Amino acid sequence: MYRNNSLKKIGWQDFQKLRLEEKGPFYQWKGRPYHVLIAQQFDRAMLERICELATKIRRIGKTKGGLLFLKDLLPDKRAMLYFAQPSTRTFLSFYSACQILGIQTAEVRDTATSSEIKGESPEDSVRTFSSYFDFIIMRHPMGGFAERIAWVLSNGDRPVPVINAGSGKDQHPTQALLDIYTLQRSFENRGGIEGKKIAFVGDLARGRTVRSLSNLLLLYPDVKQYFVAPKSLQIGQDTLDALEKVGSEYEICDDFEKTIPEVDAIYMTRIQDEWDTTEESRLLDTSKYHFTAEHLNLLKPDAVLLHPLPRRKEIDIEVDSDSRAVYWRQVRNGMWIRGALMLLIFNRAIDIDRYYEDMVV
Ligand code: CP
Repeated sequence: MYRNNSLKKIGWQDFQKLRLEEKGPFYQWKGRPYHVLIAQQFDRAMLERICELATKIRRIGKTKGGLLFLKDLLPDKRAMLYFAQPSTRTFLSFYSACQILGIQTAEVRDTATSSEIKGESPEDSVRTFSSYFDFIIMRHPMGGFAERIAWVLSNGDRPVPVINAGSGKDQHPTQALLDIYTLQRSFENRGGIEGKKIAFVGDLARGRTVRSLSNLLLLYPDVKQYFVAPKSLQIGQDTLDALEKVGSEYEICDDFEKTIPEVDAIYMTRIQDEWDTTEESRLLDTSKYHFTAEHLNLLKPDAVLLHPLPRRKEIDIEVDSDSRAVYWRQVRNGMWIRGALMLLIFNRAIDIDRYYEDMVV
């Protein structure tokens, strides 16, 4: 089993303290991620490394020889995909990345098929997974659940790495990594992400991808973030506090059409009505936060349009064929980014570097 030998048993409060203050051994170990739980655990150097690896894997995977090499990197590892909430992209991109790297997988996608239906706690379920698997990729409706589980496992005998594939309304760190990768690729001939204006649009109050990406953008100097939403769905104070703490510029507005020509990237999101307590979303008119084919005329020629997907009506289908619409590229980038992350966790990234070096000379 892959073990972080610097882990020592600590209380929940100390674990949470390490989260933001020290980025302790639960988050980074020997310069690599151990658990992947929150966007704030990453620094700029780590982001650059993950993106660089994703590009190398993507290019290596273009040939049969490269694919055979990739498949031989992690055949000794087994992954548990525990998805207690619906998913298409996150599940399949992790699953595909595991296949590409030779990792064996098992899955629980519906807790009605596991012993949770008999009353077993999710904590006991995950502890059981750690008996059979080398790491756990998990999506759960409970905010902070992945962190809680990482702490539980780290205090037990089998502290296997935990990767948060979306937890409650709070975090979706691997989505934010692939969003950064997509932005970086989009702006590679325009000086990178630094100094860009980036608008988040839609349900910002309950969108975990927005919170995670907003936090990662704080690592890039002079980025200005715009939060465009109806009042009841505006971004939370915790995100604004994070921006203010580092003196990062932001603007809160509800005029989408005014914002479109000002920005370099627009990150659309759907209304997350699965979190409604009554029918509050149905009573809201969100149509003025939709990106239509007419809006393409307002968008800068070199701006890009992102969406974590799934979408409903917030982007017209006609927009898909515009070269500035990069959300389908985002989907594919997820596979490379998640592969890069797993190689880093299991310390096989150096093999990618060596193969790539031989490949390009
Ligand atoms: N972006 C995203 O998390 O999509 P899925 O819910 O389909 O995984």
